[in-house]
Amino acid sequence: MPPAGGHSQRRPEVGTRVGGRDRTDVVEVVRAQADLRSIVSDYLPLKKSGAKYRGLCPFHSEKTPSFYVDADKQLFYCFGCGTGGDVFKFLMLYEKLEFPEALKTLAARYGIPVPAGRSPENSDRHKALAANRQALAYFREQLGRPGGEAARKYLAGRGMGGGTIERFQIGFAPDGWSGLKNHLASAGVSEGDGVLAGLLARKEETGRSYDRFRDRVMYPIVNLADELIGFGGRVLGEGEPKYLNSPETPAFSKGENLYAIGFAREGIRKEGYAILVEGYMDVIALHQAGVAHAVATLGTGFTTGHVRLLKRFTDRVVVNFDPDAAGRAATRRSLEVLLESGFEVSVVSLPAGKDPDLFIREQGPEKYRERLGAAVPYIEFLTRDVAARQDLSGTRGKVAALNEVLPFLARLDNPVRRAGHVEMLGTVLGIEDRLVLQELKDAVRERRKGLQAATLHAARGSWIVSESESRLLRALMDARDVRRTILGEIEEGDLETSRIAEVVKAIRDLVVKDEDVTYPRVASLVSDQARDIITRAAALPHPPATLEEGRGCLMALRAARLERQMGDIQKRLESGGKAADVDDLLRRKVELKRRIEALRQASPST
Ligand code: UTP
Ligand code: MN
Repeated sequence: MPPAGGHSQRRPEVGTRVGGRDRTDVVEVVRAQADLRSIVSDYLPLKKSGAKYRGLCPFHSEKTPSFYVDADKQLFYCFGCGTGGDVFKFLMLYEKLEFPEALKTLAARYGIPVPAGRSPENSDRHKALAANRQALAYFREQLGRPGGEAARKYLAGRGMGGGTIERFQIGFAPDGWSGLKNHLASAGVSEGDGVLAGLLARKEETGRSYDRFRDRVMYPIVNLADELIGFGGRVLGEGEPKYLNSPETPAFSKGENLYAIGFAREGIRKEGYAILVEGYMDVIALHQAGVAHAVATLGTGFTTGHVRLLKRFTDRVVVNFDPDAAGRAATRRSLEVLLESGFEVSVVSLPAGKDPDLFIREQGPEKYRERLGAAVPYIEFLTRDVAARQDLSGTRGKVAALNEVLPFLARLDNPVRRAGHVEMLGTVLGIEDRLVLQELKDAVRERRKGLQAATLHAARGSWIVSESESRLLRALMDARDVRRTILGEIEEGDLETSRIAEVVKAIRDLVVKDEDVTYPRVASLVSDQARDIITRAAALPHPPATLEEGRGCLMALRAARLERQMGDIQKRLESGGKAADVDDLLRRKVELKRRIEALRQASPST
């Protein structure tokens, strides 16, 4: 089943035939083979507890186990943090995988072949990637030619060794309007695809296309899946713009990719954090010097897309921006995004005028690592920065300084870490700790309020299902004969305001198609919210699924519906009206009342 997690969800497309096998089939085959209990057991010890297995939840910290695996239903659920789902979801959460990767991992484990690639041969994305590959071959070749001499000299002058040029697949786009265009044509890439990939640009007046990148050193941009998604092109020497990047294309999204993430992922895991720098050249210089956990954004600020990407590997980031950069609004916003996403952010300072590239070339990796070791937490960095700008001799200056820092401090979601900064603030700004603490508490409280409301709202939206609804769902899921009978008894309108309506529809669809009704299968057919409802209903202790149980719950829901109708009638009666209408309303009310009472007798006492 696809993730119950929202944004990054990639559902298998029903009916997409790849490699002769329907992708949905593969998901179902893997689902049928995979055993959730044995997979979870690879990660944490489980103990048998009744009909289920229990352990310490890996998704929040706890001392008494509230994480349950239901081997029959193939679902897990934590009563502590509310996380739950099927075997795919478990792997995605634990291993930080996207759905297709989780599918691949599981399929490999059970020896099930997966059709390659989820983008059909003729998709725009596929076309753009193919065009990029051709362009790279061209850029690489051009760098080696006599015409590439100036570019080679430029790279050498910037300390780039042959191995690095090879590794980062650096190339050269010669001057001229049609070198790449001609190459693409001879390689069978259509002009349209060249434009689609952003390699060719079109003149508006004439509609003619021409090479976008001219007389530039070309840095290919490769994603985690090793796909060549775009390029950054730098002028040789001075010129505007200094960097020209591929535009947003079906293959390239600046907000979702980081330069060199593929090279850095291992280093990030090993070192436990990522270094975030500003420039392509900085990344390359660091990697060349053996500091292999550096990445850069692609000429944009840091986005939530970047957060998602980095979070897969770490939640610690050391930023090494230009010394004056931390004061810039865009940079601050980037850091805010990181802090808000729960990253621990520190800042490296280099001597004035030195970017990481220059510094590491002049001073070497040892000295650079020393600087890394001396990185200060962002809040402290900011405080020192503010302190240097404000006149702290008077109260006004101190309060102003404090007010600049507190919003950032309040954003830290870890209270221990927050508290740890209070003393530093007091010291740097020369304020008595007690006062800082009070201000801080106020600032934090302001923010918490907003947070709590949001969390509560989310929980309501997804989970709050009445006892009757939850039990009806279980009755429908757990017993085949109950399901058949009750499905026939549900009247139109019974579930009209119910959150389980979507699930019941999915169950009915499966029954109609004569397919097995299993928890994971049903869950794979519904929205994220409905999926949470199923997982939770499956985890709750409910009476066994008998016909009486199911019918009773249905009657309770129907009674609730009739009661709502009666309420409407009552309102209309109270607002007065023509005598004939009143008569009619009263008759309907009595009738409803009689039916409700009958239904109540059939419902279980909840
Ligand atoms: P820098 O100018 O710091 O880049 O811009 P750099 O990589 O250190 O460049 P060198 O050392 O002068 O060769 C930082 C980043 O901002 C983006 C690029 O991603 C660059 O790496 N940028 C900069 C652009 O997209 N366009 C520009 O015109 C300039
Ligand atoms: Mn630079």
